[in-house]
Amino acid sequence: MAKKSRVVIIGAGAVGSTTAFTLLLRNRMDELVLIDANHKKAVGDALDMNHGMPFLGGAKLWAGTYEDCAEADIIVITAGAAQREGETRVDLLKRNAAIFDSIITEVTKVNSHGILLIASNPVDIMSYLSLKKSNWPVNRVIGSGTLLDSARFRYLIGEKLDLDPRSVHGHIVGEHGDSELPLWSLANVAGAKLSLDEADKLEIFENTRDAAYQIISAKGATYYAIALALDRIITAILRDEGAVLNVSTLLQDYHGISNVFLGVPCIVDRTGVREVMDIQITEEEKALLHRSADKLKGLIESIGL
Ligand code: LAC
Repeated sequence: MAKKSRVVIIGAGAVGSTTAFTLLLRNRMDELVLIDANHKKAVGDALDMNHGMPFLGGAKLWAGTYEDCAEADIIVITAGAAQREGETRVDLLKRNAAIFDSIITEVTKVNSHGILLIASNPVDIMSYLSLKKSNWPVNRVIGSGTLLDSARFRYLIGEKLDLDPRSVHGHIVGEHGDSELPLWSLANVAGAKLSLDEADKLEIFENTRDAAYQIISAKGATYYAIALALDRIITAILRDEGAVLNVSTLLQDYHGISNVFLGVPCIVDRTGVREVMDIQITEEEKALLHRSADKLKGLIESIGL
């Protein structure tokens, strides 16, 4: 019998539990395991979701332990402190770096073949830390990157132009954070350039970049769209899609940038990041991408990595 597909989510907070529910609703895998430092929370979420199985069918879901990571195809890490009002994602760095140290140690004790998918912030640094700590191949350590930012960008362009966001093609690249940048030179609808003036573009980009601050101010946290972004990445892996997604990966000589995780268009399949897309960008966009890379490299050095 074919091996059952298994996804493990470490962190049953708002993002982790919403991701679990999203994966169940869309029946993405055979087995789904929730792990949390507060095991009772994971048990409660598993009970609450399992009671809906008569309406869903599909995956086996349970609250587990690190032992359950042994058979995991994908280990999703959402654990750690979440951004509070007035905080940037970078403010979470020291707290979450310590938490990740123990998580990666426990995961790599039992699994050496899976794919690590990091969502905890600052996600590009947490992904870099996970790669160094796990010593797994680069293709198998992935950050959610700027996939969510690119979705926000596409949605806001669609709202402005009264278009289905699925028909709007646009990329936010760089840090999943304040130094991210829009690739307006590549944004298009059916290959046609967008009819947006500079004021529209500035408004759209600023609302994209600052979306999390807006949502956190309104309701305390973000979790729905990031859960859908994680579902998209997980699906591309489990279905071996070869989908182009703006995930965070370790760059080497990418427009002159090396040794840092940034969100850029990558081909994602069952091997993880199969390839980083070699896209053409303007000199201005390249300069902004370097600025983003330099910011993150400074942060990596600040925690001694
Ligand atoms: C956000 C979190 C996932 O951008 O960083 O909503």
